[in-house]
Amino acid sequence: MVCGRPDRDTLAVHGTPTRGLRAPGPRHTGRPRRAYPWTAGARPATDWSSAVPLSVGLRARVAWVCGRLADVRKIYVIGIGAGDPDHLTLQAAKAIGRTDVFFLLDKGEAKESMIELRRRMLKAYGKPGRRIAEGRDPDRDRSPADYPGTIADWRRRRSMVTEALISEYLLDDQIGAFLVWGDPSLYDSTIAILDEILARGLCRFEYEVIPGISSVATLAAKHRIGLNRVGRPVQITTGRRLAEGWPEGVDDVVVMLDANQTFTDEDVDIYWGAYLGTPDELLISGPLPDVADEIRRVRAEAREKHGWIMDTYLLRRNPPSSATT
Ligand SMILES: C[S@@+](CC[C@H](N)C(=O)[O-])C[C@H]1O[C@@H](n2cnc3c(N)ncnc32)[C@H](O)[C@@H]1O
Repeated sequence: MVCGRPDRDTLAVHGTPTRGLRAPGPRHTGRPRRAYPWTAGARPATDWSSAVPLSVGLRARVAWVCGRLADVRKIYVIGIGAGDPDHLTLQAAKAIGRTDVFFLLDKGEAKESMIELRRRMLKAYGKPGRRIAEGRDPDRDRSPADYPGTIADWRRRRSMVTEALISEYLLDDQIGAFLVWGDPSLYDSTIAILDEILARGLCRFEYEVIPGISSVATLAAKHRIGLNRVGRPVQITTGRRLAEGWPEGVDDVVVMLDANQTFTDEDVDIYWGAYLGTPDELLISGPLPDVADEIRRVRAEAREKHGWIMDTYLLRRNPPSSATT
């Protein structure tokens, strides 16, 4: 299999080395598939005894085609929730149980607890002999002049590391997986990176996305609110965008990736949450002018204590501005 050339300095693998070996499983060993509670009633193997006999030539062709199909490597992009281990869905747990190689991009010590959650999930649901292939997440300028250009370049460098990991550690007919924080559809680049690798055309695989519970869904649940009001839109945006002004045409705005508490003390309600779903969870809500200072203080203290913070909030005009027109 020819794929992008791995840069060995940025890659590492943990677990049983299996290059040249096969992952254990029914296809190779004839042993039954491991019995997970949710597969207890799995269908019995197909009985081929009454099948129409094939000529030797046709059998060879069928074997060749099946061999080619079996060679297609599969990758799961698995949403794992935003901090609560119980937010892992059954579908995600089953996919973890089928995976041979997990790919991790190390984000440095500040996010060690995020990596720890992934390790716990692998321990609970991963199959014996699974491996973890780790690559170093490339650095990027955090306050660039050219934001889109810097992000595109960072994504390209991440895709090179990712391609190297897949190339080096995912054998033909094995399953690999990325465990994505929250839900893969929301401010996450894994899907775009896999598309970029496939577009380069050097590395072949198919991939499937398994949804996860996002930090936004968790925020709404913890505050016991809906995100939209009846028949009304809601917009999800970033702190960077909010700094440019309140978005047109909406009265409900969810803000993520805001390191600067961009909210101004205008007359809206705020529903704020940090470390959602974790034992360190923080929740504050109320009219923004009343609670803005408290949020800034609590956030600064928590960041100091833990060394990192992730927070999300909903800003809500009450009543909606257009409802009064
Ligand atoms: C790169 S985005 C990833 C979002 C993720 N895919 C999701 O579905 O939640 C990171 C942002 O998500 C939000 N976030 C993620 N996990 C969070 C958590 N446990 N508590 C609060 N906000 C969180 C924060 O706004 C953070 O800046």
